Amino acid sequence: MKIGIIGTGAIGSTLAKKLSAAGNEVKVTNTRDMATLKEIAAGLGAEAATIKDVVKDVEVIIFSIPFKGYKDLPKNILQDVSQEVIIMDTSNYYPFRDGELAGLEGKTESEYISEILGRPIIKVFNNILEYTLKNKGKAAGEEGRIAVSIAGDNEIHKKVAAELVDQTGFDTVDAGILAESWRQEPGTPAYCTELNAAELKQALAAAEKGKAPAIRDFIINKFQNFSPFPSHEEMVDTNRSAAAGNLK
Ligand SMILES: NC(=O)c1ccc[n+]([C@@H]2O[C@H](COP(=O)([O-])OP(=O)(O)OC[C@H]3O[C@@H](n4cnc5c(N)ncnc54)[C@H](OP(=O)(O)O)[C@@H]3O)[C@@H](O)[C@H]2O)c1
Repeated sequence: MKIGIIGTGAIGSTLAKKLSAAGNEVKVTNTRDMATLKEIAAGLGAEAATIKDVVKDVEVIIFSIPFKGYKDLPKNILQDVSQEVIIMDTSNYYPFRDGELAGLEGKTESEYISEILGRPIIKVFNNILEYTLKNKGKAAGEEGRIAVSIAGDNEIHKKVAAELVDQTGFDTVDAGILAESWRQEPGTPAYCTELNAAELKQALAAAEKGKAPAIRDFIINKFQNFSPFPSHEEMVDTNRSAAAGNLK
């Protein structure tokens, strides 16, 4: 497929590398000058593109930038993009990093982003840590394959998202419509807890509305008080235990 990725950070770069290795035509953009972007893109097996060009002549656009950065994107960035182009988003909201954002209250994070972009989006790759995405992919059918959940209102777009997730080495679980995507936001049992598909399905069902923000903030506080910074295993263990109600 032809894929445009906005953001070449921890997640965007890993996706670019894996999806281009899987045979997709990938172009990427970030905030750097073109010479620097070209070097980054070459290392990922992707083409460098300006923010205007990254959304042109592609079938899928993946936004992978910090949550507070969406309002700084060019206005109407998707104005000339056909409705058939699938818009995916990996972002998560963290108040300690993104600050208070007017208009977010009462909405799922993805509904808020969808409003800014003026388009329905597919929430995917948000509940997998960079380390997991980079290092823990397995072939389809292999024992212990970790799963990622996908939320969105368009079944065809979700199917394509599932195919791309599979190409990166992970199973998928349908998490329902975008309005239900709070079930995979930070602080939920489904968030970065490295579950297989059956476990992830249960975790999504077990999420309790309104509980996640306090758990999310507890986890971040705990990570910030780790010295040195927590290992990957400690992060996953903390996510699992806090989401299960252990807030000590
Ligand atoms: N890290 C994780 O483990 C993880 C896991 C799942 C989901 N997520 C979520 O996925 C999103 C990306 O996370 P990340 O860790 O990859 O972030 P990151 O490492 O901070 O990278 C962010 C990328 O976005 C680019 N960017 C920011 N504003 C931009 C703009 N206006 N136009 C073009 N590019 C822009 C940055 O460009 P420059 O390189 O030029 O600065 C950078 O390449 C976040 O919302 C995060 O919460 C992260």
